[in-house]
Amino acid sequence: MGSRLKGKVAIVTGAGSVPGPQDRPPIGNGRATAIVFAREGASILAVDNRLDSALETKQMVEAEGGTCSIFQADISRPKDCNAMAEECLKIYGRIDTLHNNVGIGPRKACGILEADEEDWDRVMNVNLKGLFHTCRAVLPQMVKQGSGTILNISSVGAVLHAYPKLFIYTISKAAINTFTKCLAAEFASLGIRVNCIMPGMIDSPPIYKEILPLYGGDIEKMRKDRNERVPMKHMGEPWDIATASLFLVSEEAKYITGQILAVDGGLLLQGG
Ligand SMILES: NC(=O)c1ccc[n+]([C@@H]2O[C@H](COP(=O)([O-])OP(=O)(O)OC[C@H]3O[C@@H](n4cnc5c(N)ncnc54)[C@H](O)[C@@H]3O)[C@@H](O)[C@H]2O)c1
Repeated sequence: MGSRLKGKVAIVTGAGSVPGPQDRPPIGNGRATAIVFAREGASILAVDNRLDSALETKQMVEAEGGTCSIFQADISRPKDCNAMAEECLKIYGRIDTLHNNVGIGPRKACGILEADEEDWDRVMNVNLKGLFHTCRAVLPQMVKQGSGTILNISSVGAVLHAYPKLFIYTISKAAINTFTKCLAAEFASLGIRVNCIMPGMIDSPPIYKEILPLYGGDIEKMRKDRNERVPMKHMGEPWDIATASLFLVSEEAKYITGQILAVDGGLLLQGG
C-alpha cells in the first residue's frame, strides 16, 4: 500500500463498471481510479447509479486491503448528489477529493439534423449538469475545510472532433473544460484545486457499447482503427487515466489548478 493519499477521503463517481468483452477485465476508468486511489491510502466512496457494480468495486478495493464504501446516485439528480456528500461526511467526516468520472454517449449516433432533443437533454444533464450538481454538493464542505481537489473527466473529443456523429457528447465534454477553468478560478484562493483530464482512445468497457456501432459492430475493426489513430499505436488502459488522476489530486500537484491534461498517447499531436 502506498501513501500518496494517506488519510484522504475521495468520492469517485461512476466507480462501477459496465460489462465489456470477454477478453478484457471489467475495469473502466472510474473503477481503476477508485482502486488506484485506495492503493495510495485514500478512503473511497464509490458512487454509481448501478449499486451492484459499485459493490464489485468495493470488493476489489477491500480484497487489496483498501477502504471503500458505496452509494447509489444518479448524478443528474441534485438530491442524489447532496445525499452523496452527506453520506461521505457521515461515514468519513470529510471530503478531500471529488473525482467526476461519469460520462455517457448519445443513444443515437448521428448528425445534428437527425438528433433527438431528448438525447441532447439526457447527455447534457449527465455529462455537464451532473458536474454542476456534484460540485455544488461537495464544495461547501471543502470551503469549510479550506482544502480539496476536484478532478473532472472530459475527453480529447473536446478539442479534436474524433467522432462527428457523437457531437452531443463532444459539445458536453468541451463545456467541461471551460467549467473546470471557471471553478478553478473561483476557488483557487480558498485552497481548492480543480483540474481536468481529457482521455484519448481508452480501451475501457463502455466503448464496446457506445463506440462499436460506429464500426458496424465489428470489434476487431474498432480496435484496429483506434490503435492506429494514436501516434503511440495503441489505445490507453483505464490505469493510465487512474495514475494521471492520482498525480493531479495528490500533494505532488499542490501548485497545479485550472489545467486540462490530455492522457492520449499523443493523439492531440495530430491537430488538437
Ligand atoms: N473510454 C474512452 O475511450 C474514453 C475517452 C474519452 C473520455 N472518456 C470518459 O471517461 C469517463 C468514464 O470512463 P469509461 O468510459 O471507462 O466508463 P466507466 O467504466 O468509468 O463507467 C462509467 C460508470 O458510470 C456509471 N454511470 C453512468 N451514468 C451515471 C449516472 N447518471 N450517475 C451515476 N453513475 C453513472 C455507469 O454505471 C458506469 O459504471 C467518462 O467521462 C467518459 O466520457 C472515456
